[in-house]
Amino acid sequence: MSQLIVKGGSRLRGEASIQGAKNSILPILAAALLTGDQVELRGCPRLRDVDASIHILRDLGCGTRWEGENTLLVDARSLDGCAVSDTLMREMRSSAMFLGAILARCGRAELSYPGGCELGPRPIDLHLSGLRDLGAEIDDAGGVLHCRARRLQGCEIVLSLPSVGATENLMLAACGARGVTSIANAAREPEIVDLQNFLNACGARVSGAGTSTVSVEGGRPLHGCTYTVMPDRIVAATYLCAAASAGGGIYLRGAKEEHLSTVTAVLREAGCSILSDRGGIACTRERGLSAVRPVRTAPYPGFPTDAQAILMAALLKSRGATVFEENMFASRYRHVDELTRMGADIRVSGRAAVVSGVKSLRGAPVRCTDLRGGAALCVAALAAEGETRISEIGHIDRGYEDIARDLRALGAEIGRNPE
Ligand code: UD1
Repeated sequence: MSQLIVKGGSRLRGEASIQGAKNSILPILAAALLTGDQVELRGCPRLRDVDASIHILRDLGCGTRWEGENTLLVDARSLDGCAVSDTLMREMRSSAMFLGAILARCGRAELSYPGGCELGPRPIDLHLSGLRDLGAEIDDAGGVLHCRARRLQGCEIVLSLPSVGATENLMLAACGARGVTSIANAAREPEIVDLQNFLNACGARVSGAGTSTVSVEGGRPLHGCTYTVMPDRIVAATYLCAAASAGGGIYLRGAKEEHLSTVTAVLREAGCSILSDRGGIACTRERGLSAVRPVRTAPYPGFPTDAQAILMAALLKSRGATVFEENMFASRYRHVDELTRMGADIRVSGRAAVVSGVKSLRGAPVRCTDLRGGAALCVAALAAEGETRISEIGHIDRGYEDIARDLRALGAEIGRNPE
């Protein structure tokens, strides 16, 4: 199995471009099904999770083709299936996203239950109850979801919590429903705005994304389009934290601070200097970092749970102690044991973790426990003395096109070893 090998200690200096957003492209790939047409997706990141979505699209009868490095063509005219196999569902937990789109397009859908993941239980009860509100009959016996809807009917849906996946799934289903659907207590993530923009570029009438109420005027025929996916804010947060960890100065082309303001606010508080312009974000860290006020993860526009491990890794050598509170997922401190192997001082108690800054970190053999936990190990390794060998990097490949390429462009000593 391949490993990442990081030689810590050098300051970063350089520029990198930010890839397209994983959490945008995944729902957009499901949304492509709704068009029954061809779509051209630009800025599509080359990721394991994108490959998993492509497998699902192909299994459903759609054509897909890469053109150049980051343009993906999807032809949904030839869709001839409505079932996603258990093997394909297991490749990616967020494949539940296909439920709303397949149901809207075919009137029925069959998917295996996505189950838990490395972050803890991953229920989809809100997805299912919203689809039932729209008129779907769902039988979820035996781990397989059998969904039917001769006709979906627009309605008012109130989410009991602002789930990103449920908001997106219901937006897709509502495009195929007659009449108007309003989704209250919707998630407000920028990726939901991106999905709205894609759907509207295909002829849909969706409004309100980015606020707590999303409205969809359903039943309109959708057509193909050419669309450019937004930049990945969590990848940008990772490289900002890399600069905070290693010191030096970097520029991230394409990164948008408006999507990242809670992360940049914390990094400024810790002692980084961050300047944005229309083309990207510059981050400089000259002196040592200080601890910051408690960091509590919350739905957007709160601090993103996906940046919790990464920021924690950047603060391991800060002066003082920082409290983290993880409010989104049950098992999101699995990276802590690995960081401790590098000399970090972190105490976990339930939802809270306290990071007390240490004088130095040392390279060690460590293992990725999940996608962002793996990226956090890279961030910490940049500030460690000596060599860190990071194994099980398949987790990182789910969300980063090539983290070693990007960090090398930023001046880090990092390579990928095939053995
Ligand atoms: C998305 C992101 C993921 C991010 C997360 C939270 C994608 C592909 N993934 O995941 O990177 O970490 O948002 O920002 O976009 N919940 C329920 N019932 C449901 C749905 C969710 O109880 O039916 C709970 C979850 O267990 C979790 C919370 O709601 O505790 C938030 O989950 P959700 O916003 O749905 O996250 P995802 O869409 O799975």
